[in-house]
Parts: sequence; C-alpha cells; structure tokens
Amino acid sequence: MSTTPWVTWPALTKFGTIGIFGGLLVLSMERTELLNNNMFDVEDWDRHNADITCDERSLTARTEDGTCNILDNPAEGSVYTRFGRNVPLEQTYAETENDTLLVPNPREVSNVLMARGDTMQPATIVNFAAAAWIQFMVHDWFDHGPRMDGNDIVFPLPAGDPLGSGTMSVQRTQPDPSRTLAEAGRPATYQNTNTHWWDGSQIYGSDKETSDRVRAFVDGKLKVDADNTLPTEFLSGKPITGFNENWWVGLSMMHRLFTQEHNAIAERLKQSYPDATDQWLYDKARLINAALMAKIHTVEWTPAILDNPVLKRAMYANWWGVGGDQENREFFQQALDEMANNIEGIANLFTLLGIDADIANMEPGVIDHALGGLVGSRAPNNYDVPYTLTEEFVSVYRMHPLMRDDIEVYDVGSNVVSERIAIPDTRDGDAEDVLDSVGADRLWYSFGITHPGALVLENYPDFLRNLSMPLIGNIDMAAIDVLRDRERGVPRYNDFRRAIGLKPITQFEDLTSDPDLLANLKRLYNNDIELIDTLVGSLAEETRPDGFGFGETSFQIFILNASRRLMTDRFFTTDYTPEVYTPEGMAWVEGNTMVDVLKRHHPALSGALVGMDNAFKPWGLNMPAEYESWSAEQKQMHLWVNGAVRTEYSDGELPAQQDVDIGGLISSVLWDKVKVESDVAPAGYEKPIHPQAVMGRVQFNATSGHGFTGLFEGAGHGLLRLSITGDPEERGFAPGLALKLFVDGQPSRNVSALYTLSGQDSNYNFFANELSNYVSPEANDTLGSTVLFSMVTTKPTRLMVNAFAEVRENGDEVASPKAPTQIYFVPNSALTASLPSEPHDFRESLMTLTEGTKLYDVYATDVAIRTSIFPSLNNRLANERRNSARKVGELTLTSDLIASQFGDSGVFFKHQRYEDR
Ligand code: HEM
Repeated sequence: MSTTPWVTWPALTKFGTIGIFGGLLVLSMERTELLNNNMFDVEDWDRHNADITCDERSLTARTEDGTCNILDNPAEGSVYTRFGRNVPLEQTYAETENDTLLVPNPREVSNVLMARGDTMQPATIVNFAAAAWIQFMVHDWFDHGPRMDGNDIVFPLPAGDPLGSGTMSVQRTQPDPSRTLAEAGRPATYQNTNTHWWDGSQIYGSDKETSDRVRAFVDGKLKVDADNTLPTEFLSGKPITGFNENWWVGLSMMHRLFTQEHNAIAERLKQSYPDATDQWLYDKARLINAALMAKIHTVEWTPAILDNPVLKRAMYANWWGVGGDQENREFFQQALDEMANNIEGIANLFTLLGIDADIANMEPGVIDHALGGLVGSRAPNNYDVPYTLTEEFVSVYRMHPLMRDDIEVYDVGSNVVSERIAIPDTRDGDAEDVLDSVGADRLWYSFGITHPGALVLENYPDFLRNLSMPLIGNIDMAAIDVLRDRERGVPRYNDFRRAIGLKPITQFEDLTSDPDLLANLKRLYNNDIELIDTLVGSLAEETRPDGFGFGETSFQIFILNASRRLMTDRFFTTDYTPEVYTPEGMAWVEGNTMVDVLKRHHPALSGALVGMDNAFKPWGLNMPAEYESWSAEQKQMHLWVNGAVRTEYSDGELPAQQDVDIGGLISSVLWDKVKVESDVAPAGYEKPIHPQAVMGRVQFNATSGHGFTGLFEGAGHGLLRLSITGDPEERGFAPGLALKLFVDGQPSRNVSALYTLSGQDSNYNFFANELSNYVSPEANDTLGSTVLFSMVTTKPTRLMVNAFAEVRENGDEVASPKAPTQIYFVPNSALTASLPSEPHDFRESLMTLTEGTKLYDVYATDVAIRTSIFPSLNNRLANERRNSARKVGELTLTSDLIASQFGDSGVFFKHQRYEDR
C-alpha cells in the first residue's frame, strides 16, 4: 500500500497507452464512487414544480429560467433552486463567530498566505484568455446573488496590517428565502441566482425579463449596437447581458465574442430556414451557442489547464464518447476494445503502483463510462439525485490567483509591450472603453501570448485584496474566499478530502517544501493540520499530476461535476440531435473550436492563430502535423507572424554579430542542410555560418515569356533572409541571401546565393554586388567551406534551382519543367546607391527597408555551367553565362525587413544539391 496521501494514477502515464487507459479507468471508478456517495440533495422540488408548466416550446428549447430540462422534475437545475452538496450534510454546518468562523483571522490568512507582493507567479501552461474564460463560465454556472445588508461579519485587522488598525467587515451571504420552519436546525442552504445548467445564461440571462432585454427580436439575434458591440447600461456603463457582475475587460471580450457568435449562428440558420420565426431562430441559436461553449470548455480549456494525456482523453470522451458517427467516436470505440482486452495488464500495473482498485469487482459500466462519453445518444442520468451544482463546486472555482495585476498590450504579431493597463482600470464601466480604445484584436492577441497567475499560495493580486466595490467600499477577496467556505459549511481541507474519497494529509510537509511557507502555515493554523482551510490547502498542494494547473482536491470535485452537468442535461444527451439542434447546428457545434470563433470575428488574428489547435495555450510558433498541407499563404504567415514577428528583437537588443563556428560545420549539420525538408530548423540545429540576419516577406513578380517554369512563373508568398557569412571584422563583408517560396500543400522551395565565398572586403553595402546560386571555387577560400561542403556534395559551390521549376505556387506539377542553371540577384540600383558602404551593423541599414521596396531584379540563364582550372577561362565562361542571362522577374518586399530570433536561428532553408536535382 502506498503511504503518500496523493493519488498515484498519474504515475501510470509513464507506461504508455496501457497506462493512460489505466488512468482513465481509475478516474472512471472514482467518478462512479463519487456518483454513488457524494451527491446530496437539499431542495424541496415539489414546492417548485407546483408552479411550472412545460409548454410545447420547452420540449426543444432551453427555457429562460432553466425549467423543463428534466420534464418529470421540471424545476431541476433551474434558477433560484438550492445548491446541493458533495459532502455529507452533517458535515456542512456553517462555522459561526461562536466557534471557528474567524479562526484563523481571514485577513491574516490573506496577508500572510495569499498576498502576491510585487511579482506574479505565472501559469505558463495557459494564456491569460484562460482566466477570463473560466470567470465567463462561472458566471454561466452559479452565483449566490447580492450579499446581505446589515449584520456584517466583523473581525480585527491583524497587527501591522497595511490598512492600519481597526476592523474589517464582510457582508454575509444572502440567506435562502425559501427556508421553512421545518428546516430549522438543519445546515444552511443557499440558492443559485443563475440557472445551474450549462446553458449560456451569462449571456442569455436566467429569467425572462433579462432575456427580453438582450434580445433584438429580429431574426433570432441578440441586440448589438451599429458597430456590433454590446449596448451598455446608462448609469454603470457595463454591457447589457445575461450576468454582468464583477466586470472587467476580459469579460467584455468574452461576452462580445459569443454575442457575435450567437448572431453568426442565427444568420446561418436564417439562410437555411428563411421562413422561421424570430423565436425559433433565437432558441436554436442559443442551444447551439451554449453547446459550443460547453464543448470548448470540455475539450479545449480543460485539457489546457490540466495538460495531461489521461485528462485529455477523459475530456474528449466526455464530449464525444463512442458509438456515434463522429470521427472521434471511432477512435474511442477502438480504445474501449483495447482497454477491455487489457484489463489484466492494467490490473498488474495497479498492483505495481499500489493503486487501490478492485478491478475484479468493478461496477458494471465503469469501463464504458471511462470512454463512453456523456454527450449524445444517452438518456440523461442524474443517478437519482436531482441535478444542481454544489457549494463545494463553487468553492473549487475560487480561482482569483489567475488574475494578473495588469494587461500587457501588444500589437498583433509583436512581442514588444506597447502599454500596460492595470486591471482595476479595466473594471466595470471602463471595460468597454478599454476594449474599444485598445482594440479587440490587440487585446485578444495580448491575452493570447501572456500568462495568468498560477493557482498557488502567495499569488492573489493586490488589487483583489483591496477591491473597491460600488456602494460597498473596499473588500479583500482573499479573506472573503476563505470566509465564504467557512460560512457556507464547506469542510476544512482534511475533512473535505476525507469526505470526497481522498486521503487526508498527515503533516504540513505533505503540502509544500517551501520552508517559509511551511513556517507560516504552521503558525497560522496553530500546528493543527485539521484546521487548514480548503482553499489554502488546495492552493498549497505542491504535488500535482503532471501538467495540472490545479491540485487533486479541486480536481476530485471537478471530475464529478464536469461530467454531471453534461450527463444530466437533456440537451447534451437524448436531445443532442439534428432534430433538436438542426443539422446545421450539430455541424456548427462539432465543427468549430475557439480558434475558429476567434478567427471568424477577428480575421486580423488569423496569422497569429495559424497552427494553434488550442486557443487557451500560449500562442506561439507551433508546427502541427498538417502544416505542409496548408496553403502557401498560411505557411508564410505562420512563420512570419508566429515565428519572426513574435520574436523580433526590440530596439537596442540586436545580439552581437558572431563569427563563423567552423567547429560547428560538422558533417551532421551539413547533411541536415541538404537532406532535411522543413521550414524550421531541426531540433538542436544551430546555424554555424550566416548566424545573423534580417528577414522579410517577399513576392516574386515574374516577367512574361522567359520560358522557365513553375515558381519562376511567379510566386506571391516567400521569405527572404539576408545575412553575412560571419563577423565582417574577422573575414570581410560577405553578403548572402536565402529565399524560400511557399507552395500550396507541398514543401517550400529554397535557394541561397552569395557574391563570392570570401565576400567584398570592407564594403559594407549589402547591395553592392550581385549574388548567385553558383560561385566559383576560390584559391583563397579562408573558411575552407568548399572543402567542408565537399563532404556532402561533389559540387560544393553550386546550388540547384530545379525544384523551383517543377511546381507552381498552387501545387500543380509542371509536366515538362524548365529550370535555369544559374540565377543572379541583381540589387535594385537605388538601394546600391543609398546604402552606406562604411563599416556598420548591416542589419541596421537593411531594417530601414520597408514593405513595397523592390530588392532585386532576378536574372537567369540555362547555359550549362562549365568550369576551368585556368582562372581566365573560368572568368570568360562565367561572363558568357551572365551575358546570356535574361531578366525573369523582381523580388519585392511585402513586409518590412526585421531582425528576429526566429530569423536568426529558427527558420531553415534547405540546400538543393547537384546530386538531388
Ligand atoms: C477582475 C476580476 C474579478 C473580480 C473583480 C472578482 C470579484 C468577485 C467578487 C466581488 C465576488 C463575490 C465575493 C463575495 O462572496 O462576497 C467573487 C466571487 C467569485 N469569483 Fe471572482 N472576481 C474576478 C475574477 C474571477 C475569476 C478569474 C474567477 C475564476 C474562476 C472567479 C471566480 C469566483 C468565484 C467562484 C466566486 C464565488 C461566487 C459565489 O460565491 O457564488 N472570479 N468574485
């Protein structure tokens, strides 16, 4: 038996696929346990049901207040019904001032254990959009409503508090108005003031009045202003939407996006069903939009923040399951078979890892559930406990440390902070102003590339610990978060773990190894582990399953509720069908991701999102398996925006010029250079020569009638890298270029060109001379590159351009390719005349060249390359070839030239050898 208090299933992943299935099985067994033991209902449903009639519309539409989802218990999950519990009711008595409500002092917990100080600990596995998203979701799921007036909870400010001496007071949670006398003496209950369902109520509201306020009543749409933004409340300036509390710009972004998405869905439906009523279109668009959000949360947000192979599969299974006709279901059907066939192997692994699981006596259906999936085709199943969210669920979503202190604003594609906006300056009525003045594209990009705070102790932003609330004054969210759990009878950490099937910890050291934190925990909790608050213990958990952004205690509650809100909902089970959603609606939900939604409403982000399969992971250069199949433009923009522009050096940060690394010119690097077909350098590849460069997007405008084929006939999407061989002070100024032209669905074509091997001495004008794909071998080749390249080719000073002639940009093969033998990049004479030839950093002068500048005329000849050992004859042959060359086109910048880390070391240009022509 294992002695660690922590779950051991994460160790299974190191056993590959079978281990992952084992992990899934453990999670499924845990969920079954939780479903059997950890759902407690505290509502009197009959009382609610008495007033509800489910009309015809409610059979195929979500109602405003969440009633009539479960037709034989129509109040289930509706607004103003009580939160249920995940721990036995006798453990849910509230703490009071007479006992432990104020022990330890919540403000001291905040000061000592929660305060972030000056430096945020980031959660680098996700981006800041993930923080705004989860608050957006939480506002769909639950709220306890406005706090109670009078009879505040009051406690002293601890000694040395930055707020001085005196007291802090916190309003109590609004009591449940539906309590009856008969319930006196039972644990307190609270009502959810939003519907419990995953129904988009943060957008659509949880009652008819709110719903009417947000609707346009035309073509099923939601109300937007002429500029497609949300109307705002006159006094507060906050958007008019389903739920607009605790507002800041991150919520403005989410609400605007999914309001626009609703309207896009309604438009799509209107096309197919032109005669449909506004009500019908609205109802369908809501169903579809809500399901899309639920799917995004299940298969994108969750696997981003719980980045673990077991979890990813579990979440995919939650959404797609098996047995249906979606492509993903087939994958899971196979997995299901494989798992059933491997039960013995999995059981052995469990024994090995001391996982306490009785596979032999497993409940029927556990395997099926592990991969069976909850969405679609199954009947809703509430395991005989009416569906509600729970106080414990609310508790684990207290994720306030996710908030940053400020927003770093970046221009799309840039990695240079252009402005910082403190989050408090984006709150309430300021949110829409910030969104409009900064611009939604820039804000989304900025959220995409920056991180939220990590869900750990000592990471509450200061602004949330001193939060000004209209009409209330300043509050401390960290103190409140701790206090609310105590007030609402959420057990303390160790009891909480015991109650949900986890092992209790036995010492403070189980939580953390940080000596200062340990000392503070012990002091505050008086050395009593049983006193640790659930939120504190959860944030303190240092041992977390690989890739997990939060710990296992919160996760246990999540396993249960994340599944339950899908498996109990008629619109995610029996009625998740083309009949109810429409075929267009099903396709919309299944066929779209958060990336698609962002691209639809923010086309300017397309470049930044190319290659991203999960919008909540930090946006960056990501080369997905299908990269090669993309269009030339997509590939160009991906490398440009996510590669070069993102890693552009800021002013004054150009790395010093390096010299050639002769030792690095080993044969493996050279072989890579001629063999690897890739636009990005293979792992570990370092450019031993031409280490520094500027790069820009280019197009090749062909002159007509030159007779060369394929890309020589013109290409709109290329990258041009301009570099020098090494440090010019060491070996003279030796300019060179690398050109990459992209092809739809096929590998790019690449060529490099030099003036001569040894360069142009002390002339630092990059455009002083023509460059070519063939240079004469030189007696004085100090670098010895001829000799070195001879290791991999018989013609070390010659690169081929045949591959350019074989294909057109659209991917069409050329039947009879015709390629030049030699091409010449002839500098634009205006540039030759204007660039300095005195010593300077060549990158500085090249970076003055902007989009639209013609850089080179390109000349080409098909005269065979013949050489001679007699220099004079050699020169004559070269001159003859040059004289025979005719202009085939021009190379023009379609962006500015910039210097970037990606341009220096990330991008890769294959050399086509003579042997590979
Ligand atoms: C600017 C950002 C935010 C502000 C100003 C804010 C503010 C608040 C306030 C004032 C409350 C009510 C406190 C009370 O019980 O008296 C609250 C509750 C809560 N917040 Fe936030 N919050 C923010 C971000 C977030 C985020 C990112 C999450 C992530 C999940 C989150 C999750 C919650 C939860 C779960 C509750 C409890 C709700 C309930 O008791 O029904 N909040 N927040």
